[in-house]
Formats: sequence, structure tokens, C-alpha cells
Amino acid sequence: PASTVEEPHGRLLVGGVPLAEIAEGHGTPAYVLDEAEVRERCRTYRNAFPDAEIHYAAKAFLCRALVHWVEEEGLGLDVCSAGELELAVTTGFPAERILLHGNAKSPQDLGTALRLGVGRIVIDTPAEIARIAAAVGSGGHQKVMVRVTPGISAGGHRKIRTGSDDQKFGLSLRDGHAQHAIARVLDQPQLELTGIHCHLGSQITDVKPYLVAVRRLVGLMARVRDTHGVTLPELDLGGGHGIAHRPGEPALDLTTLARKVRAELAESCAAAGLPVPRLVIEPGRAVTGPAGVAVYRVLAVKRTPGRTFVAVDGGMSDNPRPALYGVRYAPRLIGRHSLAGPERVTVVGRHCEAGDILAEDVPLPADTHPGDLLAVPVAGAYHLSMASSYNLVGRPPVVAVRDGRARLLVRRETLEDLRARDVGL
Ligand code: LLP
Repeated sequence: PASTVEEPHGRLLVGGVPLAEIAEGHGTPAYVLDEAEVRERCRTYRNAFPDAEIHYAAKAFLCRALVHWVEEEGLGLDVCSAGELELAVTTGFPAERILLHGNAKSPQDLGTALRLGVGRIVIDTPAEIARIAAAVGSGGHQKVMVRVTPGISAGGHRKIRTGSDDQKFGLSLRDGHAQHAIARVLDQPQLELTGIHCHLGSQITDVKPYLVAVRRLVGLMARVRDTHGVTLPELDLGGGHGIAHRPGEPALDLTTLARKVRAELAESCAAAGLPVPRLVIEPGRAVTGPAGVAVYRVLAVKRTPGRTFVAVDGGMSDNPRPALYGVRYAPRLIGRHSLAGPERVTVVGRHCEAGDILAEDVPLPADTHPGDLLAVPVAGAYHLSMASSYNLVGRPPVVAVRDGRARLLVRRETLEDLRARDVGL
């Protein structure tokens, strides 16, 4: 995070708080979230996209404090379950500033969305149209969008690419599915179609795919106008803005993205004779990812002829991303200063499988030993939200730091928590 300060003697401060102090106070593993950094990132979005609606994608990470920060910074929310939606609304987030997503919305998801008055529901399959219309009822009213796949392959890993036709999300532009669904939505008097949505994928570091998406979505909006005489007011480009997980890696530049998307929108709309729609975007990772740090304690060091393994007290249960997407992190020793030279090591977790690797072939001081603390930066998105209790290891806490003070936001999952769910015998 931007507020990270490195001091002599190996002290690393985030938000003015030494990480070693948090490890002492809250135990390890722990996630540390820099409140100022999250807020700053929200403001960067607001400044780069002053006319757009910016919805933070809650799947990256959500807790009640974060709901407040996002609300105070003037962003909306994108949720994809009754759980995320309820957490936000019961924390005081205005339901009308929330979008509900999902390729397979459960009755509970839809029921909660309608009960709480969610702002927009994003339609992902044709069968949903009748379901939502029936649930809204003939006297009711619900704003919806239609999610399309613009036939673009983009994203940092094949598991997080969603813009092409051959995956589970959205309605294809190519085979007429999207237009057909739009016609059916327009036929439902209780549904108000506000616009077209697409989400190309995640961890995208290039602006170009977004510009192609703008052209294709505006093309669809023009066809909707021509066929139905309806001018849709919104265009949602989803999220997916890539960040650097290690120093020197590329990240998507938001100012460039904003400038080029605005220009492309203006040009495509002018060519189609359409007014420029309100832009909606849904960044998740880029808001919280760089604001989080994971802190671990080293439990064991093993040297083999080929490799040195440094094992920590967490692993794939709190960070499945290296195993799932091959993401590479840059762990570092904190809490003490080492004069030892660097050694290439493999940082592994404590779980009972060989694939439980947090970072492969990374430099750590050669005297790294049990009891040392390691920090893994860029741990604020898709870490805790994807954590499990594999091997009955409780999920780590989240500690917020700000102005030299630490505050527990989410407590550690205890063995009692895990045992309490086991109710049969
Ligand atoms: N909007 C929609 C409809 C999405 O499905 C997503 C992410 C986002 C926005 C936010 O994308 P972001 O800006 O955070 O890239 N677990 C994976 C990422 C999965 C993303 C799923 N959808 C990871 O750890 O990389």
C-alpha cells in the first residue's frame, strides 16, 4: 500500500502501524487492510471517471466497515448473492445503489433482492426474465440490465476470462441470443431495461479489449433503438482492471482507461446517432487488492538438495490464488533486520498437500528461521473472500490500520466456530 513505510531494523509499517505489532496482538496469519489506501483508490476512480457510476465488486472482499468506506466515498456496490446483499443493506448501504449479478441466481438471491429493493438486477440467462417478472408481480417495477458476451477474450488467466461466448456467463451477441432476450425484457411492463452489461474478465492490463467492448455494446444499443425504438440510458463495462502483484508488473492505468473509453464512447455513439449513455464500471480487485497485506509466521524451514522450503502458518486455505491461477507473490521478511544474503526459496503453507505453495523461487534472507514473520503484499482482494477452513484451520482475521491505529474488523474463525456447525452424530 501507499502508506507502507520501511524503517531501519526491518520494521514495516502500514497505515502507521508496525506489522509485527499486529502479528503480536492478533496472531498470525492475519490480513491487514489499509483504510486510507482503500479510500484513496475509491477517490482515484471517482476522479478518473467523474461522470460514471462506480460499483465496487463486493466479491473481491466485503465486511461491514468496508461497506461504510465505499458508501462514504460515493461508490455503489456490485453483489452476487443474498449474503453480500444483506450484509451491505443491513450495514446501511442504500439498496438502490446496488447491482445484483449471478449466472444462477437462487430463489433466495432474487427474493432478497426484491425484498430489499435492489437497484438493478443483471439478467444473465433467458429463463431468468420470466422468473424475475413473475417475482416482481404485475403491479411491481424493477430495473434490470442484460449481460452480454461481446466475444472478447481478455484476462490474466483462462479461469477468469468471461468475455467470450464459450463460458457460463451472459448472452451472446453473435447468435442473436442477446437481442432476443432484450426483446423479451422490453415486453415485460414491470421490468425497466436500463442498459447493457458486459464483464470481459479479470486482471486485464490492456485498455484495448474495453474499447472493442464499447464499440460492440454501442452497436447493440443502436440495433435496439432501430428495432424497438428504445434508447437505453446505461452501458456497464464491468470490472477486471488489472493490478501488479509484484513490483515491476504491469497494471491497468485508470486515467488512460477513462480517457480512451470516454473517447470511444463519444465516437461510437456519434457514428450510431445515439446519445452517450451513462457509463457504469465494477472494479473489485483494483479497489482493495493493493490495500491488503497478509502476515504469516514461519513454522518450519526444510532444506533439500534442490530447494529450500519455508513453511508458514497459513497457505492455500487463506490464499488459493497461486494454486488456482498461478499468481506470483513477493513475500518478504518483516520484524527484524537480516544481514544474511538472499536465498531462493519456496514458501509453502501448512496444508496437507504438495500444491499448497504460496510463492515459488522467491528471495528471502538465507537465515530465515521458524518464528520469523513474512508479509505478502497485495492480499486485499480475493483472499479472505475465497478462503476456506481446509484441514479445519480457521480463517484469519482482518485488521484495519489507519493513522497509526489498528482495529479488528473481522475476528479469526475459531475451532469453536468450526465445531459449532458440526451438529450430527
Ligand atoms: N463485475 C463482474 C460481473 C464480475 O464477475 C467481477 C469479477 C467483477 C465485476 C470484478 O472484477 P475485478 O475488478 O475484481 O477483476 N477469484 C478471481 C477473480 C474472479 C473475478 C470474478 N468476477 C481471482 O482471485 O483473481
